Amino acid sequence: MNPFKFGTIVENDFFTDRVRELEEVKQKLNSENHLVLISPRRFGKSSLIQKALVQMGRPALTIDMMNVLSVEGFAAMLLKGVFKLYPLEKIRHLMTHFRVVPTISTTPMGDSVEVTFNASMNDTVVLEDAMALLEKVSTPDKRLIVVLDEFQEVTEISKGFDRQLRAIMQRQKGFNYVFLGSQESMMTEIFEKKKSPFYHFGQRMTLAKIPYEDFRDFLSERMPVEAGQEKDSIVSEILEFTDVHPYYTQQLASVVYDMIRYHSVCQHVVDEAVASIVRSHDLDFERLWASMNRTDRYVMLDLARENKRDTSRHVPTSTVYSSLQRLAKKGYVIKSDTYEIEDPFFRKWILEENA
Ligand SMILES: Nc1ncnc2c1ncn2[C@@H]1O[C@H](COP(=O)(O)OP(=O)(O)OP(=O)(O)O)[C@@H](O)[C@H]1O
Ligand SMILES: [Mg+2]
Repeated sequence: MNPFKFGTIVENDFFTDRVRELEEVKQKLNSENHLVLISPRRFGKSSLIQKALVQMGRPALTIDMMNVLSVEGFAAMLLKGVFKLYPLEKIRHLMTHFRVVPTISTTPMGDSVEVTFNASMNDTVVLEDAMALLEKVSTPDKRLIVVLDEFQEVTEISKGFDRQLRAIMQRQKGFNYVFLGSQESMMTEIFEKKKSPFYHFGQRMTLAKIPYEDFRDFLSERMPVEAGQEKDSIVSEILEFTDVHPYYTQQLASVVYDMIRYHSVCQHVVDEAVASIVRSHDLDFERLWASMNRTDRYVMLDLARENKRDTSRHVPTSTVYSSLQRLAKKGYVIKSDTYEIEDPFFRKWILEENA
């Protein structure tokens, strides 16, 4: 079986390193504090949290704020999450505080629950009741963890929702919240700005890429034997192309693996794999490129050519700067101490198109 996996949460043999980060997450959650975990997209936030949860053996429910359309929708998702973890019969007596009783229906097989509220209900009441249940189901020896993924969306859902949430959360005890986010600038606004309701609400942690040596060993151990003497150079070519990005490294390694294993390609296998991935995304890249304005295209091309833009050396003009901000916000560009294109395959495509 192909030992590389990308696009979903990775566990067990598909997961590497993060030893220090794992300890840090567990330590922080082993307190009354909340955790704020930030990284660019697909660096491994969900996988890391998942691993910590499994190791700690604590019940957890996750809500992706991207899927929340209203305050009431958020309350319904919370309740659904609770009912998945705790059988309804066992917690019905904890729901006597509900001022508005939601309609709870189970599917015939009993494998999923639907929660709906009466249309005319007051949002605040519905939210407070649902949030109060979290504190009631959590027990001292099995403390609940509530993960709010893509939390930066909180400001988009409804006006004042962030304030409402914070007002309730700050009085809650006995369980932890984990706030995940992939838009660093917005997460910083939310948790570092004095005027923001969530100012310093949790302990902040940022997730970097996986260290080069760890990822190298991980790839090396999993390359098929057919790679033979080429193995080391194949591995370093993969890591050079992806710049050790967790997701893209696993994606490229997976295609390389299949090419060696099933098609006995060994010569220039990394180039071939890259070309095949770029080709398979041609249409998406073309659409994406067409959707960008001229300045953004210019900036992307510039970044593609020099790969990294050292912000301390090149002081960008204000137009370039606002374009970089915009591209970073959309996730096409990653900003660390330099700016770089997030997707190495898109970078390759841009270079080829503009050769
Ligand atoms: N510790 C790890 N070891 C190996 N590969 C990893 C690791 N963490 C992440 N990856 C790779 O990165 C991919 C994305 O991981 P994950 O979904 O956990 O990231 P994320 O930061 O939650 O992403 P998103 O921003 O899309 O929510 C995984 O499918 C896997 O290929
Ligand atoms: Mg995730």
